[in-house]
Amino acid sequence: MDNTILEMRSITKTFPGVKALENVNLKVRKGEIHALVGENGAGKSTLMKVLSGVYPTGSYEGDIVYEGETRHFKVLKDSEEIGIVIIHQELALVPLLSIGENIFLGNENARNGVISWEETYNRTKQLLQKVGLRESPNTLVTDIGVGKQQLVEIAKALSKSVKLLILDEPTASLNEKDSDALLNLLIEFRNQGITSIIISHKLNEIRKVADQITVLRDGMTVKTLDCHADEISEDIIIKNMVGRDLADRYPPRSVPIGETIFEVKNWNAYHQHHRDRQVLHNINVTVRKGEVVGIAGLMGAGRTEFAMSVFGKSYGHKVSGEVFVDRKAVDVSTVRKAIDAGLAYVTEDRKQLGLVLNDTILHNTTLANLDGISNNSVIDDIKEMKVATDYRSKLRIRSHGIFQETVNLSGGNQQKVVLSKWLFSDPEILILDEPTRGIDVGAKYEIYTIINQLAADGKGVLMISSEMPELLGTCDRIYVMNEGRIVAELPKGEASQETIMRAIMRSGEKKQ
Ligand SMILES: Nc1ncnc2c1ncn2[C@@H]1O[C@H](COP(=O)(O)OP(=O)(O)OP(=O)(O)O)[C@@H](O)[C@H]1O
Ligand SMILES: [Mg+2]
Repeated sequence: MDNTILEMRSITKTFPGVKALENVNLKVRKGEIHALVGENGAGKSTLMKVLSGVYPTGSYEGDIVYEGETRHFKVLKDSEEIGIVIIHQELALVPLLSIGENIFLGNENARNGVISWEETYNRTKQLLQKVGLRESPNTLVTDIGVGKQQLVEIAKALSKSVKLLILDEPTASLNEKDSDALLNLLIEFRNQGITSIIISHKLNEIRKVADQITVLRDGMTVKTLDCHADEISEDIIIKNMVGRDLADRYPPRSVPIGETIFEVKNWNAYHQHHRDRQVLHNINVTVRKGEVVGIAGLMGAGRTEFAMSVFGKSYGHKVSGEVFVDRKAVDVSTVRKAIDAGLAYVTEDRKQLGLVLNDTILHNTTLANLDGISNNSVIDDIKEMKVATDYRSKLRIRSHGIFQETVNLSGGNQQKVVLSKWLFSDPEILILDEPTRGIDVGAKYEIYTIINQLAADGKGVLMISSEMPELLGTCDRIYVMNEGRIVAELPKGEASQETIMRAIMRSGEKKQ
């Protein structure tokens, strides 16, 4: 019996100047979890947009055969109607609407043009139960974390009676616990006969859930690996993705560590909106020249709030404390002043805060350091182009040139543009917030190499990351943060997943 639910045959998709997909084939079996992997810009998201009708029939070549029939989707709704639902790489919920409103947005429970709120909320409750959420359907989306938002997206998919669920990097911004919950849900769906296609750069997760793995490289299918027929290691997946062995995930660093270059003393801040809630409590942090310092913690520990409040009070209310650069007190009360004091902050939220999306790679790269490309306050176009070209090749940004608008870049390549911008601002202290989110293994290595280079130049690096192996692989020292407090400081030799988790747990107990 043929158990194929989907076959994409010889798909070719071209954008002006770029061939994003070339004769790609994908065959998915009914009821399996099929992973799609590949480097940034390999074409994964594009392939799924072709499948779901975001790119309509006629805008690509090749065939989509779903449940035995050749399909021609003109719009997203056409694919949804027959059970194909896509959850995009960037979350698409409306923050100021409730969970219930979001789930039925565009698909309202209406009779004669009047929405039945009772039905909406009752059905929302049932759907939330299926994905393991206990929130009230009235809760605003902005008031729940990203992990739960991702589950709301899945509940929304279920409301459309899904047969083939497509998830584009669903766990990229989730912590381990939320990721596990989501992956377990996919396994449960598999038991119910729902097919999933999942795109992810987290290869350990892929190995955990996938039945088959299709690898794309440079817009072409490299191979489909069957996880039941062969023993599939992460190394095998990587080798297929990048076309060579990657011996080591973290480049070695042997930089002598110098004097303190950055110090934050007695840092306190209150919640941006709930103004009587203190979110940061007396935080003290130091970074020395040539040192890479990590901040570990669970989602919601206050790490981003800390970084943003230090970087020009971009977050918080009643922010207080002192900041020293090279032992001199500095004013960081605005972003401009923070930059002038030598700080740079690479945000975790590249779409909202990191990029001017409808502008080019060129302008985004130089945005934070116009002085660096100007002569007597006049921008030198040639210099600007040279800078952008250099970073584009150094970070291997995949685009058809520096004049491409960043909105059209793949997720991982957008992240690399954000990094270029802050690297070019030539900071003394670089604060990185989830710098490798959505970045492929090969490019991660490049980014770690750049971090090492900064350290070698005597700069200080402060890195927030939810990926513990990354912190352990790159940092000289790790602070552990929990509930707005620093609860431990671990030198490289003492830091491990266990010691970090133990520090978090112990601080939780102490409070009770
Ligand atoms: N709308 C568009 N216009 C022009 N080029 C595009 C557009 N969308 C994607 N591309 C290009 O197509 C290629 C494939 O992009 P795609 O988003 O599919 O990559 P991806 O494999 O999902 O990468 P990532 O892991 O970074 O998300 C990239 O070179 C990208 O720049
Ligand atoms: Mg993508």
